Amino acid sequence: MTKPAYVIDEMISAKAIAARIETMCRDISAEFCDTDKLVVVGLLRGSFVFIADLVRELDLPIEVDFIEASSYGDGMESSREVRILKDLRSGIEGRDVLVVEDIVDTGHTLSHVVQLLKTRDPARLKTIALLDKPSRREVDFRADLIGFDIPDEFVVGYGIDYAQRNRNLPFIGKVRFVEDG
Ligand code: IMP
Ligand code: MG
Repeated sequence: MTKPAYVIDEMISAKAIAARIETMCRDISAEFCDTDKLVVVGLLRGSFVFIADLVRELDLPIEVDFIEASSYGDGMESSREVRILKDLRSGIEGRDVLVVEDIVDTGHTLSHVVQLLKTRDPARLKTIALLDKPSRREVDFRADLIGFDIPDEFVVGYGIDYAQRNRNLPFIGKVRFVEDG
């Protein structure tokens, strides 16, 4: 069976992403200016590009850690069952935590991770997502900071994949399937 062919149409340019990150970092710096205990937690793997750009715009003393949760297979539909594949290296009790996600879709992944991390008694826990598809939400959850609300389209690039491909695109693009041949 051959995989369906697709093209990628640019939706959010690299320049627009960079500009939005700059403004969001002002909000983050204001929120966390009073602490030297901030841990920025990236959700693997999709947030790796976003977190790299984000922390370089933050003029705060921070640590960086990662957690990996899986809800997607290689397809386009969430399995809605969230598993922790790799946990944090650091303890977060009494610390300030900023969880960084690439995209919130049904909401299951980020809300599950937030619930889990809250059981560890952080002093403060905030969430940031580069993208949000509010029309797809299945659980009552909204990140504290959102880069862009987008319509119900499957997107790739800037860390985000389709079947593990296209993470290295510098922009966010939407996947459009085309007839073969
Ligand atoms: P949720 O649990 O349904 O909110 O899904 C969140 C996760 O699904 C994200 O961290 C992404 O890894 C993945 N995801 C959601 N929408 C897309 C998309 O449009 N393209 C690629 N991955 C997506
Ligand atoms: Mg993800």
